Amino acid sequence: MIIGIPKETYENENRVSITPDTTSKLIKLGFKVNFESGAGTNSFFSDDEFIQSGAIRVSSAQELYNSSEIIVRVQRPRSEHDLSMIKSGSTLISFFYPLIDPMISRYTSDRGINVLAMDLVPRTTIAQKMDALSSQMNLAGYKAVLIAANELGKIFPLMMTAAGTIRPSKVVIMGAGVAGLQALGTAKRLGAIVEVSDIRAAVKEEVLSLGGRFIEVETDEDMQDEKGYAKETSDEFLKKQKELIFKHITGADIVITTALIPGKKAPVLVTEEMIKNMRKGSVILDMAVEFGGNCELSEQDKLVEFHGVKIIGYSNLPSMIPVNASELYSKNVLSLLQHISKEGKIEFDLQDEVISSMLVTYNGEVKLPQLLEKLKLSK
Ligand code: NAI
Repeated sequence: MIIGIPKETYENENRVSITPDTTSKLIKLGFKVNFESGAGTNSFFSDDEFIQSGAIRVSSAQELYNSSEIIVRVQRPRSEHDLSMIKSGSTLISFFYPLIDPMISRYTSDRGINVLAMDLVPRTTIAQKMDALSSQMNLAGYKAVLIAANELGKIFPLMMTAAGTIRPSKVVIMGAGVAGLQALGTAKRLGAIVEVSDIRAAVKEEVLSLGGRFIEVETDEDMQDEKGYAKETSDEFLKKQKELIFKHITGADIVITTALIPGKKAPVLVTEEMIKNMRKGSVILDMAVEFGGNCELSEQDKLVEFHGVKIIGYSNLPSMIPVNASELYSKNVLSLLQHISKEGKIEFDLQDEVISSMLVTYNGEVKLPQLLEKLKLSK
C-alpha cells in the first residue's frame, strides 16, 4: 500500500506526521511512501532527507491524496477543502477527536473513508508504543513550564547571593496526567516549589515521588473510571474543589492547568475571582484551552492580561517543539502500522483491541459506539 505524508494545513502546525527515519522503516515493512514537497520543512526535515530514505516526492496535496491509500496526518482535516481531497476507500490515520468534533465522522463514513484516530489508542501495555496522546502531552508539559517561566518576572530556584536571598517560585499544577507530571518534573528541576492537584487519588504517590506536594480533594466518590481516566465531576464536587484550591492558586507565581475529562468539556477550575486575588505578574498557562479551558479568562492561542496576571492559552505546544514531537508521533504511527499490517498492507481485524478502540469509521459505517450515540442526538 502507498502511504501519503501531506504538508499539515492547520494554522501554526509545524509537525510532520512521518519523519525520514520512520519512512525507511515503513519501506522495510513493505509499504511505499509518497510525501508532499515541503511536508517536513517546518520541522526541519528536508525533501532530500525524505528522498534519501526512499520516499517519492509529489508536488501538490491533491496529487498526494490521489496517489495514496493511507494518509497519515497530525491534525484532523478540518476544512471542506482538506476533507474533499481524501478519496473514498482510503484510510486516514490522524488525531481526530470524534467526540469533540462529530460531524467530520459523518462525512468520512458517507464517503467510505476509514479513520483510525490517534487520540483513541487504548491505554494498554501492548499499545503503549502507539500512544500519541502521551508522547505529545509529555513534551507539551515540559514546554508549558518553559513558556510560563519566560513570562514570569522571577527565577524559579532559591538563590543565596551577597545581595540577599531570593525565595523560590511556587508553581501550582492542576491535573497530574501525562502533561501535569512532566510539568511537575520540569518545574522541580528548575528549582521551584511545586504543588499538584488531581481528583484521582491514585496519582498522589506519583506526585510525591517526583518531589511535588499533593493538594487532595477529600471525597468518598471514586473519581477514576476503569480505563484510568478521570470521571466527570458533579457541580457540588467542583465547588468544593474550588474552595480548597483557592489559597493555593492565589499564592502561586505560576499556575499550569492540564485537567481534562475525555470527550467532555474541560472543567473550569481557575475563576476570575481567583485571578483577582493572585499577585500581579503571576502567570497562568491553560493547557486545556482547546477543550473549553480550565481558566475562565483564557483565550485560545493568545496571551492576555487581566488584573495584572498573564494568561496564556497556546493550544498547540507540541508544535513548538516540532523536531521531537514529529519524531515521537511518527514512531507511534510506525508501531501502529507494525501492529495492524502484513507485508505492507493494513488488515482491519475488527476483533483486535487496538483497531476496535481506534476505528471511527469503516466501510461507510460509524464504528465508535459513543459517537453513534452523539450523532443520533445531533440529527
Ligand atoms: P487527561 O489528559 O485525560 O487529563 C489530565 C489530568 O486531569 C488527569 O490526571 C485527570 O485526572 C485530571 N483532572 C480531570 N478533572 C480534574 C479536576 N477537576 N481537577 C484536577 N484534575 C483533574 O489524562 P492523561 O494524561 O491522558 O492520563 C490519564 C491516565 O492514564 C493517567 O493515570 C495516566 O497515567 C494514564 N496513562 C496510562 C497509560 C498506559 O497505561 N499505557 C499511558 C498514558 C497514560
